[in-house]
This record gives sequence, C-alpha cells and structure tokens, in this order.
Amino acid sequence: MDYQKRQKRFWHPMSSAAAGHTAPTVVIARGDGNYVWDVEGHRMLDGVGGLWNVNVGHNRPEVKAAIARQMDELSYYQTFDGVAHPRVYDLADRLCEMFKQEDMQRVMFGSGGSDAVETALKMARQYWVAAGQPSRTKFLSLRNGYHGVHVGGTSIGGNGVYHYNHGPLLPGCVQLDTPWLYRNPWGCEDPQQLVEHCIRQLEEVIGFHGAQTIAAFVAEPVQGAGGLIVPPADYWQRVRAVLDRHGILLIADEVVTGFGRTGSMLGSRGWGVVADILCLAKGISAGYVPLGATMYNSRIAQAIEQGEGFSSVIMHGYTYSGHPLACAASLAVLDIVEAEDLPANAARVGRDLLEQLLPLKAGFETVGDVRGKGLMLALDLVTDKESRTPLDPGKGFAARVADAARRRGVLVRAIANKVVMSPPLTLTPSEADLIAHTLREALQECCRDSPSIA
Ligand SMILES: Cc1ncc(COP(=O)(O)O)c(C=O)c1O
Repeated sequence: MDYQKRQKRFWHPMSSAAAGHTAPTVVIARGDGNYVWDVEGHRMLDGVGGLWNVNVGHNRPEVKAAIARQMDELSYYQTFDGVAHPRVYDLADRLCEMFKQEDMQRVMFGSGGSDAVETALKMARQYWVAAGQPSRTKFLSLRNGYHGVHVGGTSIGGNGVYHYNHGPLLPGCVQLDTPWLYRNPWGCEDPQQLVEHCIRQLEEVIGFHGAQTIAAFVAEPVQGAGGLIVPPADYWQRVRAVLDRHGILLIADEVVTGFGRTGSMLGSRGWGVVADILCLAKGISAGYVPLGATMYNSRIAQAIEQGEGFSSVIMHGYTYSGHPLACAASLAVLDIVEAEDLPANAARVGRDLLEQLLPLKAGFETVGDVRGKGLMLALDLVTDKESRTPLDPGKGFAARVADAARRRGVLVRAIANKVVMSPPLTLTPSEADLIAHTLREALQECCRDSPSIA
C-alpha cells in the first residue's frame, strides 16, 4: 500500500498543507518496549517516546490488561454533577497522594495537555473571582514557552508561529524573556546574573501592569517544544518568591516534565518549588489512552469551595473528563513509574546520554549547544558558533539529521534548528549509547553531504 499517497486525505498536525508538499512520512505500524517498527518492518529505537509521552515503553502487558479489564467492566460513563465511576475516584486519590508534598488537594480531568492548560487558566481566574479580586485576569508566561493549542494556551505561548494564523488571541497575556543561557537578550553567560536580569524584568512587568491585574505566572519547569531550555538552578525559587510577594499564582505546566522526565517526579519538585496549580498529561497515561489533569492546592480549593454565590460553581468540564479507560491506564502506568523508579532512571541514563552528546559540540561546526535535563535533550544547530546564529530551519538540515538517524535505526525529532530527544524513561544505558553513537554518524553524513551548511 502506498502510504505516501494516503497523506492526501489527512492534514497532519504541525505540518505544511501547501499543495505539492510531499515530505516523506514515517508510518509506524507496531511498538514494543523502547522500539517501534514502520510499515516496511524497519525496527527503530523510539528516541522521541512517541511525542514526549510514551514514558513506560510500548505494549506493556500490565497497562493493556488494566485497559481490557476496565473495558469489560465499564467502557464509558460521564462525571458531570452527581455521576461518577470508581476509577475516576481511584485516580484522583492516587494523584493527590503522589503530590501531597505539593499540597495538591483537588483534580479535574481532560483529554490531554491543551485541556489541562486551558482548565488551569480558567480556574485560576475563577479562583480570583472567588477570592474577591476579579480584576486579576492577566497571565504572565515565557518566550519560547509551549502550552498547547487551545486559545488560552496559544495566547500564553511564546512562539509566534502558533499565533500567526489564529488571532486575535486572548488579551492580557504578557511574555517575559526566558532564562536561557545560550541565547538571551542581555548576552549574559553567567547563570546568576541571568537570573538577576530575569527577576528584574519580572518585577518591572508586574509593576507596569499592577499585581492587582495579574492572575498567574505560567511556565514549563524545563521548556520542551520551544527549544529544550533548562533554566539556572535557582530561577524558579526566585520567581516563586516574587510571585508570593505580589500574591500571584504559580501554574507549572508539567505536561512534559511531569512523572519523571527531568529526573524527579515533577520538574518543579526538581527545582525545589511548589506550584499552586499543576498541568499534567503525556506521562500520566504514557500514550496508552489520552488523558490530562489539572491539580489545585488548598489555597485554590478552599477559595473556590467557599466562594460566594456563583463563584463556587464549576461551569467547566468535558464529555471525556475522567474517561474510565484513561483512568485505568493511568493507574497501571503510575504503578510502573513508581515500581521501576523511572524518575531515577531518567536522571541516571539522561546524565550518561548528555555526557556522550556533549563532545558533539567540539566535533561539529554546526552543533552550537548540547543541553538537557533527565531524558529531555537537544542539539542546537547553528551556522556560526561565535554569533550562535540558529541554522535556518527552511534549509532542512535538522530534518536531514533526524532522517539519517532514522535510517540507522534511531528516531529523534527535528524542531526548527534543534534535534530533540525524549525517549521512554525505561531507556537502558546501552540504548543511550546507541542514540549518541547514531547521532554522531548522522551528523557526519549530513555534514559531508552539505559542507556549506556545516
Ligand atoms: C508543555 C506542554 N504543555 C501543553 C502541551 C499540549 O499537550 P497536548 O498536545 O496533549 O494537547 C504540550 C504538548 O506538547 C506541552 O509540551
């Protein structure tokens, strides 16, 4: 069957629909453990973990059995007012137990990360209505941030390409500079000074808008899709201190970082910070059934539950809020995450992989930076190391590197001028070696074929 022709009917997310656009597509037919097979039978190490989400590997019998058991028992029921099913309560209890050190008291469910973020933004506003400060409606977030594709998440997102075709977006969304050592507007290479710049800017922005107009600051503990940006170690604690002084909520978008990817159960926990609201998805069900969750601490829970009049009424939720199959899958996935201590494995194997990738910087003119935390890592490709000018994504070099790696049996992902890795958290040390070794060969091939770019 010619799968390339079948593309015609289907608009791929995040791709060009231009007539004549004929980028070849990798069609994945099967997965098992940390590997997938394409329709032609080629076996590939899944270095992207689906889409930062297949954290426990493919085809896990425990997860399939849990889904099948649930399917036999009850495949669907809703959870709106006055109706529920046992699994949604099981998962709500489990998540509150997992994140009790963050004082998480309540949870709402959706079908993915965009739902989780949209829910967080709406409920943050409801919190302020219930708390008697309804003028707090604005959101602060970071450039390069990615928070999904619903209108709220798009509006707070810090990358213009998601805005261009879909405006006008939500008013009152203000982006601050990202604490990014490799590229920042201050040309600053010292982590301590960079944090000072960012904190000064945060204070200035709050001063300009007035804290009484700001609902929340929203950010990813490590930025994923925006370029794999790891902030200096004390950035989050310093931000939290400023927000506390101004009464502003902290929303941690843990859609990628949640459940172990950065080497701790939450990315924010890894930075020693406690958020008021957590956005969770991806690793919560590891790709087996779509699921997202938004969690609230006691400050939010109490204010809304004790809110006057209509401010305690939650007029938000989805047909698939707390889908039984998703809850059953999640409970089985979380068993694996805890039993196999996958956050610790991500920290250990991620550190090894980063150490093996770092020499690529010295070895290739085009590799400007190599960075990562846990099992989220990236190569940042440049035309000139001195100026750190990003390689023009239009030239397709990063995509060619990813393609060369794929032909050698390792899937990685090209995002603009980055080559990104986010393998299952079950990755073994020898599989990490394979990723590093394959990327070196892929770079060698592409630099040999395109010496002018390299
Ligand atoms: C940090 C972050 N937030 C939100 C989302 C949106 O999640 P979804 O694609 O499941 O809607 C993503 C997706 O990659 C993400 O990386």
